[in-house]
Amino acid sequence: MTATEATAAHPATDEGPVLRCTDLSKRFGGVHALEKVSFEVRRGEVLALAGDNGAGKSTLIKTISGVHRPDEGEIRYKGERVVLDNPRHAREIGIETIYQDLALADNLDVGANVFLGREPTTRLFGLERLDRPKMRAVAHDVLETLDIDIPERKLHEPVRNLSGGQRQAVAIGRAIYWNAELLIMDEPTAALGVPEQRKVKELILRLKTQNVAIIFISHNLVDIFDVSDRIMVLRRGIKAGERRPSETDHNEVVRLMIGG
Ligand SMILES: Nc1ncnc2c1ncn2[C@@H]1O[C@H](COP(=O)(O)OP(=O)(O)OP(=O)(O)O)[C@@H](O)[C@H]1O
Ligand SMILES: [Mg+2]
Repeated sequence: MTATEATAAHPATDEGPVLRCTDLSKRFGGVHALEKVSFEVRRGEVLALAGDNGAGKSTLIKTISGVHRPDEGEIRYKGERVVLDNPRHAREIGIETIYQDLALADNLDVGANVFLGREPTTRLFGLERLDRPKMRAVAHDVLETLDIDIPERKLHEPVRNLSGGQRQAVAIGRAIYWNAELLIMDEPTAALGVPEQRKVKELILRLKTQNVAIIFISHNLVDIFDVSDRIMVLRRGIKAGERRPSETDHNEVVRLMIGG
């Protein structure tokens, strides 16, 4: 698979939602982290997930990325019921998750990070070895396709030398290279400066045009209103409401978050 193929738009032919969750519940001891939460997300759509600390946002994305098994409820991916055994299984079917810590390997370069755990190899004098030129070429292509501005020389340095926004971009690029059809991002802009926040939001909008479905967690209502098509609010594990940005405002979303 080439980067060009990998970053090609997903066909918008099947009209059903990419993900449909019905009555998902998850308890930790006595804590009801999720109570009968139902929602769906379609291709080319950004669903923002809002809620106060402890509302259940991370628990929800962990149940759709194979980290947690829900105690109850159903997950349908591209129309089919799935039971996700682990995060690898979720990635194999096209659900890529970018966690807040990004899970980049700081000491490796961009190419090695794009392929982390899935490295291509080549044979030289009968010995199997990592195909570094391929990793670099793909890293270059992916970043170029997404219009991510990282200087060529930086591609060959450990990613710890990149800015927060560039690192976020590498994580997004990796997800896209591996053909994410559903991309889940937990607080992607939280640790970034203003110009980098803008860049990440541009990337999200670009992925929308490639028909990727995106679930985006944020505490920042400005970001949520900037990029989302729908906003789902969780409060103490319960779905408190769902709104289109055009039919609501910050005040109402905050009221849904805190109740009363
Ligand atoms: N592994 C776990 N074991 C026990 N309790 C947990 C676990 N994970 C989450 N919880 C509890 O479930 C509830 C929801 O937590 P979750 O992390 O989903 O919230 P969140 O909405 O992501 O919050 P934040 O905005 O602070 O990240 C909390 O009460 C939390 O303490
Ligand atoms: Mg969380």
